[in-house]
Amino acid sequence: MSNSIATRKFWPGPKAHEALIAPSILSADFARLGEEIRGVESAGADWIHVDVMDGRFVPNLTIGAPVVKSLRSVTRLPLDCHLMIEEPEKLIADFLRAGADGITVHVESTRELSRCFQMIREGGARVGVTLRPRTDLAEVLKVLDQVDLVLVMTVEPGFGGQSFMADQVAKIAELRRRIGPKGGAHQPLIQVDGGVNLQTVQAVREADCLVAGTAVFGASDRAAAIRALRGGR
Ligand code: DX5
Ligand code: ZN
Repeated sequence: MSNSIATRKFWPGPKAHEALIAPSILSADFARLGEEIRGVESAGADWIHVDVMDGRFVPNLTIGAPVVKSLRSVTRLPLDCHLMIEEPEKLIADFLRAGADGITVHVESTRELSRCFQMIREGGARVGVTLRPRTDLAEVLKVLDQVDLVLVMTVEPGFGGQSFMADQVAKIAELRRRIGPKGGAHQPLIQVDGGVNLQTVQAVREADCLVAGTAVFGASDRAAAIRALRGGR
């Protein structure tokens, strides 16, 4: 497995028995984004998950590298950028310059996947790969030795607040089998994104990192929500 995992200063490793929690800012109040991020940082979040959408790869449009650059100055947490954009190779350098600590690209979004990985790695960031729910896991297994993180989507990418797709859990199990037991050194992390909440968290207990938008930003007590997600399995 990859022995070149980026060891950026602010990347905590997951413990075998608990998950890293990455609140997705898609569910935050964008008018108060800095405050929202500082809030989840003090509530115990491990990473900040940034959903980048271009209105082409997915039918929604969100934010780009200039916003990531601004966010860089409000938090010490790793900025985990999930690119849901066509031809990410055209924008990866911008996200790296903006201060992204990790960049995850969709296998369906580019013909130059390996070049994307190389750009991200040379930029000193964590290399992530992901796939739509309908895409065969084989597409990711082919590149497993090139990445530091595999994101399993448990909703169709594009929007927050959707229902968890339980039929994607088998992908997590298969990945875990291929990668090896949790907590091993120099192995890609498994991340899960979409519909993760206290009702579904048990089903994703094999993952190392849980992205949660609604379940964190929609909670009245965000620290309690993060603690419950982290320990809720
Ligand atoms: C969907 C995004 C997710 C989304 C998760 O395309 O990648 O990160 O914000 O939101 P919840 O946790 O509300 O499903
Ligand atoms: Zn995401």
